[in-house]
Amino acid sequence: MIVYLAVSLTVVAQSARQQTTSTGKKISPTLFGLFFEDINYAADGGLYAEMIQNRSFEYTPADRREWHSLTSWEYITPVFSYGSLNVETNKPIHPNNPHYAVLTIEHVGQPGVGENSKIPENKGVPGVGVKNLGYDYMVVNAGEKYAFSLFACQLSATPVALTVSLQDPRGKILSESKLTVNSKDWNKYTATLTASERSDSTSLVILGTTQGKVGIDIVSLFPENTFKNRQNGLRADLAQLLADMKPAFIRFPGGCLAHGDGLGNMYRWKNTIGPVEQRVEQRNIWGYHQTAGLGYYEYFQFCEDIGAKPLPVLPAAVSCQNSGGTWRIGGTGQKAIPMDEMKDYIQEVLDLIEWANGSVSSTWGAKRAAAGHPKPFNLEFVGIGNEDKITPEFEERFKLIYDAVKAKHPEITVIGTVGPFPDGEDFTKGWKYANNLTVPMVDEHYYQQPDWFVRNQYRYDAYDRKQSHVYLGEYASWGNKLKNAISEAIYMTALERNGDVVDMASYAPLLAKKNHTQWKTDMIFFDNEKVCLTPNYYVQKLFTANQGDYYYDKIVSKNSKDSTLAASCVKDSKTGDIILKLVNGGTASQSMKIDLSAFKKLASQAEQVVIAGSAEAENTLENPQAIAPVQSKIKVSKSFQYNAPAMSLTVIRIKTQS
Ligand code: AHR
Repeated sequence: MIVYLAVSLTVVAQSARQQTTSTGKKISPTLFGLFFEDINYAADGGLYAEMIQNRSFEYTPADRREWHSLTSWEYITPVFSYGSLNVETNKPIHPNNPHYAVLTIEHVGQPGVGENSKIPENKGVPGVGVKNLGYDYMVVNAGEKYAFSLFACQLSATPVALTVSLQDPRGKILSESKLTVNSKDWNKYTATLTASERSDSTSLVILGTTQGKVGIDIVSLFPENTFKNRQNGLRADLAQLLADMKPAFIRFPGGCLAHGDGLGNMYRWKNTIGPVEQRVEQRNIWGYHQTAGLGYYEYFQFCEDIGAKPLPVLPAAVSCQNSGGTWRIGGTGQKAIPMDEMKDYIQEVLDLIEWANGSVSSTWGAKRAAAGHPKPFNLEFVGIGNEDKITPEFEERFKLIYDAVKAKHPEITVIGTVGPFPDGEDFTKGWKYANNLTVPMVDEHYYQQPDWFVRNQYRYDAYDRKQSHVYLGEYASWGNKLKNAISEAIYMTALERNGDVVDMASYAPLLAKKNHTQWKTDMIFFDNEKVCLTPNYYVQKLFTANQGDYYYDKIVSKNSKDSTLAASCVKDSKTGDIILKLVNGGTASQSMKIDLSAFKKLASQAEQVVIAGSAEAENTLENPQAIAPVQSKIKVSKSFQYNAPAMSLTVIRIKTQS
């Protein structure tokens, strides 16, 4: 059970101090990481670099009432051509991907000559086809290459010629390629399209230009330049921003997305690996569609690419308690996988560990190798459940999964779940349950006002170190102003101080696309080409990129008892660097005294990064630089004063000399 006492700040702080030794207190080396959820178009239309929306014609009204197989597609018949467009299901590429489009080209028009050529309808390439509008159209840049592909099959007696082009809003062709579909089987056709000029409102057009009938599916367009040039890869700019943070881990695929709002749309990892045309697409709990193009293979690959530990969160065999639209805490909407299916479900969890870590001769390790990754992914953590309602059904299923993982894979750290704090009994019940089972870590979630983070910065000083440890899997103060970010910085110094009981922490949510945002406070906002880094991003980055594995107390003293002043000092034993984080959440600058006499052979000059500004300042896509970190050098000595600007976070990184 958690011991959370409402005692005075001074006393609580003292109890944490007593654990500090002159060599520092060992803290979690994987304290700060990232939470990734496919919310706010974070995956499809976001980090996943696919530019075609509804590429596989699998959108349905279940995703969104007004959506259907041809959402984001337009049927076009330029130059008085005619034919038809249907969606069919009788001969799919794979049963997991049942819908495909069928173009019947009955007549291909003739471009007008003489005066007739000036008639707008007579312009362009004649044919019968489709135009994809992307996710709010597509941005292409002059000279950049785009990898086009589609699956097609010839459904008429004769082959069908296709012209594929990138077009600007006026129909100007920016790149074009021709191919002939000449097989009655589904085959993949590819082309590289190089944009002749920039356009931020580009469409992809596919035209049948000879009479016949053709099936098309998985129409795809990726920038050639994806992150690390991976196939089926990630948007380079967004992925790089995450890589720059140097997170210790990445949690995926959610959030509520992981357990889904009903048994039908729980996130089942096996549906998301293998060739994209064989993956199972499904309704996204946040009101749109998941292609699973960004699936478990891509998540693990990305973690490896940026040196972060993967933290997959699997459903605890129960869905969100708000399933079925009950939308009330304490609702009875939670659905549970029937007990007679639990054996298979537990196997699915164990198979994930084998898929990630097993040798190439194991069943699932072989599948990982076949996908291009013979080496293990070194999975260490598995989350089970996401802020679930703690019902008897949950408890029974969680225990079965937990016991099975512990028995077969004692090397894996299982992270359990508790209900959201502080709203309900599921938080308390969840903790009690996890402690009874001795689950190594549990996942706490809370979203609060900034002053809550300031007032509650001593929360974990009183946690019982001998019981389950904490993964603070989701937290944020409501808002993206500097004052929000600074309140989080104050709290994060406390997370470092308590890094012997808080093992991991991740801000949430991570990404949010303009005009497609379901959750208003997020770390990075973006559209199809620009990004807006919030002050919260900069604060997170300064902590993730400057983590330590030893915490030192009594290094920073402040002249005031003001709770908006906070500081931490950690050492990164890999580099030997000493890292100070100094936060002033007040309206006037404040002096802090720094005593580094505990450390030997420190450099006299250090790297310093400061984020400061007005409390209400925030960045937007239109004005992304209102708040930006400023980097400089600072002279340091065994004992020095630092004047922390009003509403600021300063990080000072000091090298030790060998
Ligand atoms: O982060 C957004 C949502 O908040 C998550 O999906 C859920 O776990 C929490 O309620």
